[in-house]
Amino acid sequence: MCCICVHRILSTRRNLAFGHVQEQLVAVLIDRICTRAKAHPKGEVNLSLILISYANSTISRASFGDHYYKLDGDIGGEKLRQVLADFFELVVTTPMADIAPWLGWVDTLTGLEQRTRRTFEALDSLLERVVADHRNKRFSSGRVVGVDEDQRDFVDVLLDMADKDAEFQLDTDNIKALILDMLAAGTDTTSSVLEWVMAELMNHPDVMQKLQDDIRAVLGVTGPVTRDHLHKLPYLKCVITESLRLHSPSSFLPRETTEDTELLGYHIPKGTRVTIDSWAIGRDPATWERAEEFVPERFVEAPDDYTKLGHDFRFLPFGAGRRGCPGAGFGASSVELALANMLFHFDWGLPDGSRKLGASSLDMSEAHGLSVRRQAAQLVLAKPWFGH
Ligand code: HEM
Repeated sequence: MCCICVHRILSTRRNLAFGHVQEQLVAVLIDRICTRAKAHPKGEVNLSLILISYANSTISRASFGDHYYKLDGDIGGEKLRQVLADFFELVVTTPMADIAPWLGWVDTLTGLEQRTRRTFEALDSLLERVVADHRNKRFSSGRVVGVDEDQRDFVDVLLDMADKDAEFQLDTDNIKALILDMLAAGTDTTSSVLEWVMAELMNHPDVMQKLQDDIRAVLGVTGPVTRDHLHKLPYLKCVITESLRLHSPSSFLPRETTEDTELLGYHIPKGTRVTIDSWAIGRDPATWERAEEFVPERFVEAPDDYTKLGHDFRFLPFGAGRRGCPGAGFGASSVELALANMLFHFDWGLPDGSRKLGASSLDMSEAHGLSVRRQAAQLVLAKPWFGH
């Protein structure tokens, strides 16, 4: 499955082909921020909700194509957002029955069982519909029609493999599971990375100003920032790298030893569950100066390709080794493009007039779910920038 993800679904070529769609989705994101800000008397927007919706539409579009799939009776995608939120929460919830099978009745009493069933049914019927539509589209006069390589979404790629590749025997359930894996692994992480970077920038207005100056100097007076501009924005990468060091969305990376192992004088038997604490590694004062501080400048002299897996074990935002994130390139371009455009098009502030942008003005408490995200919803002021 990992091999399918890396070489077929999330390859560099497919990521590049998806570039123009990503740019369209960022345009929708900017438009949405603008509309919400205009609709509020003080220009306030709930950035958390907008970023979740952006991440969700990016992964859904890459997975399902440009057809807008809705749950029954859904208006404006709100029901789907809620079902996905429930799904992300349920994935990391341990049912009582798993701890002590004879206490399984507690899960019925707390409503966990019913909520799980409801969420499963909603997502399963949606994915059934997606796969059936794609199958129908592929059949023309009784024969399979290929979809142009650059136009194919994840479901197209998987159906092609199911039809033509004997090596992988994929059935509909496998395809649904893989797509759900993508949604689960890609949505929450992308939006929480964006939220943390914005929160750090809010708390460090000097860094935000420097980054905005950089972006606006490269763009001049006309936007939007496209994927072609990104390599001209090295400071943007330093800011994201530093934020990932402090706020890796997956703080624990679980592994199991496949053989008896000796490590630093300890004997670790085969089959031991080992948890790598990526959060603590990123903040280790033995490796990092001013480890707890947000200092993007530390990467200016020695830029780091933060998407490269396991080349620098001082921090592991995308994990490492065979189980490392196959969507790192895809996730990075979604984050960079969205962030650069948000900073180009708007000047940002905090809603409460008495609070100024500056150190510790935002609550940075963490909430643990499928990924580590900010606990408080991010309410901000977005003022369109009229330099363009
Ligand atoms: C910037 C955002 C992202 C971050 C920080 C991130 C981080 C991670 C991490 C830390 C892991 C576990 C790696 C390990 O155990 O060594 C992981 C796994 C994974 N990621 Fe990402 N990821 C991001 C975006 C994405 C995207 C956009 C996709 C897909 C479109 C994706 C797909 C996956 C998959 C399929 C796995 C493996 C899940 C499994 O083992 O079942 N990720 N990611």
